[in-house]
Amino acid sequence: MTRPISLLFASALLLTGSMGGATAADEPIQPIPPAKITNAAQVELGKKLYFDPRLSKSGFISCNSCHNLSMGGTDNLQTSIGDHWQQGPINAPTVLNSKMNLAQFWDGRAKDLKAQAGGPIANPGEMAFTHALAIEVLESIPAYVAEFEKAFGSAGVDIDRVTTAIAAFEDTLVTPNSRFDKWLGGDRAALSAVEAKGYALFKDSGCVACHNGPAVGGASFQKMGVVEAYKTDSKAIGLAGVTGKDADRLNFKVPTLRNVEMTYPYFHDGAYWTLTEVVDLMGKLQLGKTFSADENAAIVAFLKTLTGEQPKFELPVLPPSTDKTPRPKPFG
Ligand code: HEC
Ligand code: HEC
Repeated sequence: MTRPISLLFASALLLTGSMGGATAADEPIQPIPPAKITNAAQVELGKKLYFDPRLSKSGFISCNSCHNLSMGGTDNLQTSIGDHWQQGPINAPTVLNSKMNLAQFWDGRAKDLKAQAGGPIANPGEMAFTHALAIEVLESIPAYVAEFEKAFGSAGVDIDRVTTAIAAFEDTLVTPNSRFDKWLGGDRAALSAVEAKGYALFKDSGCVACHNGPAVGGASFQKMGVVEAYKTDSKAIGLAGVTGKDADRLNFKVPTLRNVEMTYPYFHDGAYWTLTEVVDLMGKLQLGKTFSADENAAIVAFLKTLTGEQPKFELPVLPPSTDKTPRPKPFG
């Protein structure tokens, strides 16, 4: 799953070497395509489920609690707050553009969004429910039962359908038309001189070896601390936890840098709050490079051009509970 870094550098150099043509196809980063909706009823249902805190034991925590779509699809906390105010072990990545990831979670333990979506509902440190209870809640609400039938073409509420619908909604959470994408599309006025210089530095320094493709990341697992070790109190070991291979220790899914100005704090341990610090550390730890203050500022300016149009939709109105709906247990 991890590609040797030398190979990545070689391909990055190849890509940057062919800059003259200046078409998007020559660049190591491609524009984000707009969402394609194939099943509108599933997306609509998935949106309701994404916002519905009744899928948690407390009746208080929804996917949106930790992946707040008003805040770049994150909670902007070092680590998340779960059931009973528990402190989570790791920073919540954004759900925006996450369908482009080669796998989900920092260590890639879920193969796709559908496989991921069942996890938090039953995670005792997150929504702390069970799949059986979540289904019981949904089945007790006739409007949900009808909506599942409409979205799937037959009667029935089960966890497979719940995760399919949530994933269908998440597929729509893309952020096209950032200023950088406009620049890639040929609008050279979309970036200032400093931002364009930042992009040149981002490419020429080798950041694109790991942060590339439409999501500017999400396409490989890489060691955190290639040149110099990363100091952290976090116990996360990354990909090694999935593969059992010592060589995969501290290999994390390279995070997307789309909307990165909104998704602070940074790194798997959420230890850094400013892009200035993070760019400085990435230079030193991953590339053995020290950027001047001007270079750092230019790269940060470039990173802020990756903020795209945030998903726009009407806030869902959730169907009310009924006499039969199991009651929330926020304190028990
Ligand atoms: C209590 C906070 C919390 C809740 C609630 C929560 N998540 Fe997460 N989510 C996280 C954290 C933390 C991670 C990272 C965990 C890891 O990598 O080990 C994560 C990871 C993810 C990822 C992977 C993103 C990536 O880039 O790897 C997706 C997608 C996601 N969550 C979607 C959801 C959905 C859908 C729900 C609701 C069913 C949900 N989350 C509920 C905190 C939460
Ligand atoms: C060898 C691969 C590699 C290179 C080269 C690299 N990065 Fe990273 N980058 C990563 C990984 C892996 C992470 C996640 C590390 C972690 O969370 O512990 C990361 C995280 C980041 C983050 C934080 C994103 C977030 O949401 O937490 C930013 C910003 C970033 N890199 C920018 C850069 C810049 C700028 C450069 C060039 C100076 C660069 N990276 C070079 C692999 C790389």
